[in-house]
Amino acid sequence: MAKKIVTDLDVAGKKVLVRVDFNVPMKDGVITDDNRIVQALPTIQYLIDNKAKLILFSHLGKVKTEEDKASKSLAPVAKRLGELLGKEVTFVPETRGAALEAAIDGLAEGDVLVFENTRFEDIDGKKESKNDPELGKYWASLGDLFVNDAFGTAHRSHASNVGVASHLETAAGFLMDKEIKFIGGAVDNPKRPFVAILGGAKVSDKIGVIENLLDKADKVLIGGGMAYTFFKAKGYEVGLSLLEADRVELAKEIMAKAGDKLVLPIDNKVAPEFSNDAPITVVSSDAIPADQEGLDIGPATVKLFSDYLQDAKTVVWNGPMGVFEFSNFAGGTIGVCEAIAHLEGATTIIGGGDSAAAAAQLGYADKFTHISTGGGASLEYLEGKELPGVASISDK
Ligand code: 3PG
Repeated sequence: MAKKIVTDLDVAGKKVLVRVDFNVPMKDGVITDDNRIVQALPTIQYLIDNKAKLILFSHLGKVKTEEDKASKSLAPVAKRLGELLGKEVTFVPETRGAALEAAIDGLAEGDVLVFENTRFEDIDGKKESKNDPELGKYWASLGDLFVNDAFGTAHRSHASNVGVASHLETAAGFLMDKEIKFIGGAVDNPKRPFVAILGGAKVSDKIGVIENLLDKADKVLIGGGMAYTFFKAKGYEVGLSLLEADRVELAKEIMAKAGDKLVLPIDNKVAPEFSNDAPITVVSSDAIPADQEGLDIGPATVKLFSDYLQDAKTVVWNGPMGVFEFSNFAGGTIGVCEAIAHLEGATTIIGGGDSAAAAAQLGYADKFTHISTGGGASLEYLEGKELPGVASISDK
């Protein structure tokens, strides 16, 4: 059933709790990528323009001890949000209590408050991460309505998303709605041909996605480290390449079931060591030397994958094709990015995580129809799982 979205709520003058995913990468207290904050702005701006009193909250990293708190405060995030909005954002360095409640009572229409990292509540019994019922009820008591815009957290059942939603009328924010429409739409109702490209290091991380997409897509192209486990299953030498020996049987079963729907690389860039400066040889997939490791797909594979992509009307990509962090082994990932970027009339989606980082790092971020802000969440969505953060949003 369709879920409520923020425009279905009457927010004027109301205290609106907004769960965002501001779990952004930080180095020494400095945000290194503010994309998740930027992507949450449409919902925040809409609520400001419609005279809500905004109470924003998010987790940031994992918080296990008191010492973790210093590096996991949301203070720098609140500051960045203020800069992006061009308006004052109040930061309350608490997750509960009199100071937070007083600050909320003092909010005027259009004001924005951010409170401290919800996972500070994890130190004492994982209350946030285990969806402690008292905590969800308490946070819900701070507002009149709930907007969940944290797609990146939707695969988690936390007090701050699922818990709060069980006490208040809940709507999806614009980002959450967009993610559901694009990823859900691509997987459940794709325009065909539908081509999925899956990469990344491990088969074990992607089993669910491979199986679900083999059911739904017309072709599933496999690259990245996990391809070597499939090569092993075909009886090829894989040398020093990444290999999950305990998944070889599974890879065999997947290949037998998939037939020609599953496409593996035909050539690879190999090197004697895991280094950008190592000498590179291009070899066909059945000729990987025993003393070398595969670090990228080769040029013939880029051409093959590009040919499969040419007529696609829906493309979902998750996982890099090689060690794109090394410039000499980024060619496969760049080639796939290029091929997708030039497709006309196709809906092209990156399912978050490393491939989203790769597209951004390589300068292709604006060439896709949709780049998910979810890592684990988009992966689980692509697996066809129900996400608790989505399920807990009120039905229309
Ligand atoms: C993410 O970055 O995938 C989400 O914010 C969830 O974070 P988590 O993996 O720490 O729960």
